[in-house]
Amino acid sequence: MPLDLLTSIASVRARLDAVRVAGTTVGFVPTMGALHGGHGKLIEAARRDCGSVVVSIFVNPLQFDREDDLRKYPRTLDTDRDMCERLGVNVIFAPTVEEIYPTPPSCTISVGHLADHLCGPRRPGHFESIATIVTKLVDIVEPHRAYFGEKDYQQLTIIRTLIGDLNIRTAIIGVPTLREADGLAMSSRNRLLSAAERPLATALYLALGEANRLILSGVTDSERVAREAAARVPARPGLRLEYLEIVDPATLQPVTRIDRPVRVAGALWVGTTRLIDNVASAPPDVATQ
Ligand code: PAF
Repeated sequence: MPLDLLTSIASVRARLDAVRVAGTTVGFVPTMGALHGGHGKLIEAARRDCGSVVVSIFVNPLQFDREDDLRKYPRTLDTDRDMCERLGVNVIFAPTVEEIYPTPPSCTISVGHLADHLCGPRRPGHFESIATIVTKLVDIVEPHRAYFGEKDYQQLTIIRTLIGDLNIRTAIIGVPTLREADGLAMSSRNRLLSAAERPLATALYLALGEANRLILSGVTDSERVAREAAARVPARPGLRLEYLEIVDPATLQPVTRIDRPVRVAGALWVGTTRLIDNVASAPPDVATQ
């Protein structure tokens, strides 16, 4: 089946109503475009599980807390379309901002304490805006299954919780982070790094790895783990660790004593690019989640 690129909500609904009536399972991969190998993994998982795969490409202005970040965000629709075609995507939904927000929304989704830590306090309103756009997109596409990367762990956890709390009938599938050979998590933002910055960007992965090593060796004091892991980020101009925190994987609240599975997450500034990453960890003899 040829790949359809649709831009209106009405056309997506009509196209997918027919798909569902035919009894075909719909898999959905919401993205902001600038597709990379990590998105490829989400699409492949959807392709394996579902008869029809929909990818949305929409740079959601509401979730950007800085004007320059929104302006700089890479937009690569032609190459995104080629990749979707290669991976057997059936529908790309690429709406305009006006199609999605004909007027600024008065009603948005609140995410409660799930945004109290990690990226939440550093990006006010970010997760409310993500929860709102994902709810809108899921309502438009009505997928049986939707796929999100574990790299954005706080986003994934908020979306899982939102879908449960609102009784939305879409299964949320988390897909493990895809990494470059040196450990850097694949991200659309990596293409904003200069050649000189690129090698420095692995510092976050190395710090998270150090936290995991300490936890696996039996250190239970999370403050010590975070401090010693953060010390792995070298003092180099342009490199700044914004945070490195250890949280409960479901509630995203800080953990003081590491006696159960945890998520270690961080954000690193490399020049003017902000990168995030996380790893699952657990004390010795306890399985990670
Ligand atoms: O992860 C992303 O690309 C975005 O936050 C999402 C889920 C597509 C919402 O805009």
